Amino acid sequence: MDGLDMQNVRLGEDGKAVVILDQSLLPGETRYIEIRTPEEMYEAIRHLKVRGAPAIGIFAAYCMYVLSVEAATAAMAEPEDSSRSFLKRIRKNGDHLKSSRPTAVNLAWAVDRMVLTAQTALEDLDKKPADPQQGEAGERALSIIPEIMRQEAVKIHEEDMAMCRAIAEHGLTLIEDGDGILTHCNAGPLATSQYGTALGPILLGKERGLDFKVFADETRPLLQGARLTTYELNRAGVDVTLICDNMASMVMKNGWIKACLVGCDRVAANGDTANKIGTSGVAILAKHYGIPFYVLGPSSTVDLDCPTGDDIPIELRDPDEIREKFYSRPMAPEGVGCYNPAFDVTDSSLITAIVTEQGICRPPFHESLGEAVARAERQKKGMR
Ligand code: MRU
Repeated sequence: MDGLDMQNVRLGEDGKAVVILDQSLLPGETRYIEIRTPEEMYEAIRHLKVRGAPAIGIFAAYCMYVLSVEAATAAMAEPEDSSRSFLKRIRKNGDHLKSSRPTAVNLAWAVDRMVLTAQTALEDLDKKPADPQQGEAGERALSIIPEIMRQEAVKIHEEDMAMCRAIAEHGLTLIEDGDGILTHCNAGPLATSQYGTALGPILLGKERGLDFKVFADETRPLLQGARLTTYELNRAGVDVTLICDNMASMVMKNGWIKACLVGCDRVAANGDTANKIGTSGVAILAKHYGIPFYVLGPSSTVDLDCPTGDDIPIELRDPDEIREKFYSRPMAPEGVGCYNPAFDVTDSSLITAIVTEQGICRPPFHESLGEAVARAERQKKGMR
């Protein structure tokens, strides 16, 4: 389907850059940019050139590979313990990347997985008997670590595609042909791989000849709904109507919404869910009008180390995003106080179900999410 092949994140041909579709320019301009340095990587995430929890994780994984090539060369030039020097370098790169945005757990998850991959591979190689024909043991090991990391990044990307597809299948069982659906922010192909999460059931349903009437909240202040969700759904031929965030209550009251589908940036062990600012308000409205509220995301977005939503760090962003971004001139008095949290936490009591690639988790979430994560981990181990 048009839109599923957007290639929002990929490794550059020369393996020295990550290529992204610059989401900050959409829908007006389609520009792919090459990201090479740690500063460019940090900036691409911070300024939402690449955005959406899973896409940020995939991007970070490729970045860690690109940076590992340089780290290996630098570490091998050092007189001793090149492995330790290499790990120190990539951990530093990883910490820098992780500091770009705190809320979406997929960023830290992907970086930590890449560092662990390198560390485990080095430990495994250390255990093998040295072959003096092939140079110093540390050097020998280091020269092959970047390739192992590249393969891991590709695996993270492929896993996300498979997870999005599975989420779409499970989610599609929750909605019916002709349903009106409200979504907030953007959790489609641009934010993930291929089908997306919240938009997955809609796009998969469209492929199968089902028609939904989607209402997309514009999603102030960065307008991911207006700029990206409508763009993706239009391309896919889905009937989409853009509304301002403060119109959600009205369309629900009119009886036009049969279900709310949203993505997630981090789900706590009890089901409390961080997603784009405004999501919790939509959930409160849905409860009021008796409309089911579904959260969709890969099991890698579930953070069992966060017992509740209170433990999720919330990113605060530049007040000028509220005061002047997207306006031809500032629309509030200069210097007026602004509070600009990028995410909020929806209380688990407002969530009907959380859909992961493992299936549909229902309350009590600490049980159903725990089982989903454990199953995902078992599958991953079985695959290795
Ligand atoms: O600030 P953003 O645009 O990265 O926020 C994105 C969201 O909140 C999405 O809903 C979430 O990441 C899920 S994406 C599948």
